[in-house]
Amino acid sequence: MRIHLAPMEGVIDYLVRDILTQTKGIDQCVTEFVRVVDQPLPRRVFRRFCPELENQCRTPSGVPVKLQLLGGQPEPMAENARRAVRAGAQAIDLNFGCPAKTVNKSDGGACLLRDPNRVFNIVSAVRNAVPSDIPVSAKIRLGFADRSNYMDNARACEDAGADELAVHARSKADGYKPPAYWECIGEIKQKLTIPVIANGEIWSVEDYKKCRAQSGCDDIMLGRGLLACPNLAQQIKAYLTGTHSSPMTWHQACQILHHYFRISLPIYPQKHAGNRIKQWLMYLRLNYPEARDFFEAIKRERNPQALEAAFQRQLADTTDARIRA
Ligand SMILES: Cc1cc2nc3c(=O)[nH]c(=O)nc-3n(C[C@H](O)[C@H](O)[C@H](O)COP(=O)(O)O)c2cc1C
Repeated sequence: MRIHLAPMEGVIDYLVRDILTQTKGIDQCVTEFVRVVDQPLPRRVFRRFCPELENQCRTPSGVPVKLQLLGGQPEPMAENARRAVRAGAQAIDLNFGCPAKTVNKSDGGACLLRDPNRVFNIVSAVRNAVPSDIPVSAKIRLGFADRSNYMDNARACEDAGADELAVHARSKADGYKPPAYWECIGEIKQKLTIPVIANGEIWSVEDYKKCRAQSGCDDIMLGRGLLACPNLAQQIKAYLTGTHSSPMTWHQACQILHHYFRISLPIYPQKHAGNRIKQWLMYLRLNYPEARDFFEAIKRERNPQALEAAFQRQLADTTDARIRA
């Protein structure tokens, strides 16, 4: 059973991948998406999105990272996949799930699900462009405007030679609104022979059990749930081995966030200082009341020194109170 860390544009950069994979339980990561239009991209672009290229495509803890491409044209996608592999990528992931208007308007992400032939052509072009020992995976939603053609898109990925398929159990039109339709993943899993990875709305070990039962998938992908509780993967693995791992305390989660704040300061423009911290806090506050208060205290703060002082106060003040049951 493998746990994948979901790709999250604007949130899960290489530093977050490093931090989250230090807490055991995650078996596979994916980069933020590299946008492909019609130009071949230089090596430095792949390195920027995936500094792990310098480390055999692994996080410092040794967890493999796939390089994610997003685009609608088979040939440029194939050419850039080839270049990514030349730059050191050891696995390519193709994005057919992004719901963002700007991305869909420029012919990328979930809008491609309207036409399974386009999905087939992109997967097939990339599969043929890279050596056969480089896995090519795809990530889809259950559809664009509705959930009617997921089997066609899933089959298109398999027929085109994808090595595995991650399925976010909602259509583009469903957005991020619960529920996740895990039973649809179950149908896909039954019909396909490649590994299928279930994704969407797994926030706890209990959710994992339900998703497992409804989808029949051994492999899962965790996104927001891992940000909301950074040792969720560890808890699920503990459950599977008949042991127990408690959710991280707020103090521990805050230490992680503080560490991320410090190491990420130099890599993002000063005017965006704290943005990614606030984004992460939005998820942490779903589990930790203290994160809600901390978010309120810093939400308008952009000054790095003031943010650092707020972290210091927060860490000094927090008790090791357990996460809410
Ligand atoms: C802020 C944000 C950014 C995302 N970026 C990507 C992306 O770059 N590529 C992708 O395939 N999915 C992306 N997703 C979708 C997630 O990978 C995942 O499918 C979705 O969040 C559902 O899983 P979860 O309920 O475990 O979070 C993003 C989701 C969010 C919330």
